[in-house]
Amino acid sequence: MCVSITNDKYLRTNQNNNMSEEKLTQCSFCGKSKEVVKKLVVSDNVAICDECIDLCQDLVNDELEEVKPEKEPSYDPESIKEYLDQYVIGQDSAKVVLSVAIANHYKRINFPPKDIEIQKGNVLIIGPTGSGKTLLAKTVAKYLKVPFVVADATSLTEAGYVGDDVESMISMLLNAAGGDKSLAERGIVFVDEIDKIARKGESTSITRDVSGEGVQQALLKLVEGTVCRIPGQGGRKHPGGDMIEINTKNILFIAGGAFVGLKDIISNRLSGTSIGFNASIKDKKIEGDMSKVIPDDLTKFGMIPEFIGRFTTTVSIEDLSKEQLIHVLTDVKNNYLSQYKYILSLDDIELTFTDDAIEQIAENTLKLKTGARGLHTEVERVLMPHMYHVRKYRENEIKLLNIDKEKVINPQSLYDGPQSSST
Ligand SMILES: Nc1ncnc2c1ncn2[C@@H]1O[C@H](COP(=O)(O)OP(=O)(O)OP(=O)(O)O)[C@@H](O)[C@H]1O
Ligand SMILES: [Mg+2]
Repeated sequence: MCVSITNDKYLRTNQNNNMSEEKLTQCSFCGKSKEVVKKLVVSDNVAICDECIDLCQDLVNDELEEVKPEKEPSYDPESIKEYLDQYVIGQDSAKVVLSVAIANHYKRINFPPKDIEIQKGNVLIIGPTGSGKTLLAKTVAKYLKVPFVVADATSLTEAGYVGDDVESMISMLLNAAGGDKSLAERGIVFVDEIDKIARKGESTSITRDVSGEGVQQALLKLVEGTVCRIPGQGGRKHPGGDMIEINTKNILFIAGGAFVGLKDIISNRLSGTSIGFNASIKDKKIEGDMSKVIPDDLTKFGMIPEFIGRFTTTVSIEDLSKEQLIHVLTDVKNNYLSQYKYILSLDDIELTFTDDAIEQIAENTLKLKTGARGLHTEVERVLMPHMYHVRKYRENEIKLLNIDKEKVINPQSLYDGPQSSST
């Protein structure tokens, strides 16, 4: 029911309602009588109590909040890049390409042209492990305030085979959208480890390639835009339950993968040889550069041309340098150091790091070859004995823990005796 209270002369309160008609002595919404509520606002043929007004106000506020985010983000590529800069260190050219791709995608779906059809362009991010592929996609989704899911390509199989079929990604997106179909239809699906569904070499194709080429085939329609029917609230456990139709034509697919070996393929092409990626490149002068990738390289790697064709934007990201790792540690929002500072502050310990300690952590991390992900491992390794002994720190009223280079090289807490050297 919709009530509009527009004219003050019709409003009466229960303290001052001797003029109102007898019949309107109770709230038309909840039925409570004017005696039990604080205020009853009465118009010609409807009355509402203060409790229902509060409830309506909350409903309106909630709705306004839900609507606001869609209007908020700017689809200006430079603004998207500036936002990404706060969370992702380096990868500048990737950020530029991604920002333009994202801006165009959302311009296309928010302001569809009348007489032409703009083709959807999904995004493929290639680059080494732990250098920010998933982080880039996640941060974009956060900026756009759209639902976002990460699906692992290695767990996908063709429909009919054991494993998750590709449409399960859309179910995940609908869940992430809290069941809101129209929100899900503008979301982002990040398909991680896409390189792991590369077609296997000729020699292994005696049996059907269920987890490789088959999955690429199954993804084609979904990625391009199709209507898929997925189980509604009841989920797969209730096959008889409602099915929901989700159109994937405005869902942005971002695929990411490390594509180990692709550099060799690029290098071989640039050096004019057609040897596969396992060939030695010892004698070659040109080093493979991921940013020089062309679709044919990806086909040689094992991606089928139809699949590559649906990812019109290819973004390559680089290994992070030592300086960039230091920035990841100290500068980005939610950086690892702040996270551990917070954890130790819960035990009243202030955690500080000297500059050379941070540099040493970055140096050690480079050796792990797991990108920025290794920073987490390193910081954890360094702080482990201290975090284990927090109780002793507290009992002895030690309120400052300063990690210097020596403590990074040889992580030991003040209380590490021979008995705890197993840490
Ligand atoms: N460029 C970066 N800037 C800031 N943090 C980064 C960056 N790259 C990686 N990280 C940190 O490392 C973690 C792992 O990064 P991410 O998940 O993006 O790696 P990835 O490239 O997707 O690797 P993989 O190929 O193994 O999936 C992130 O959670 C983030 O904390
Ligand atoms: Mg990843």
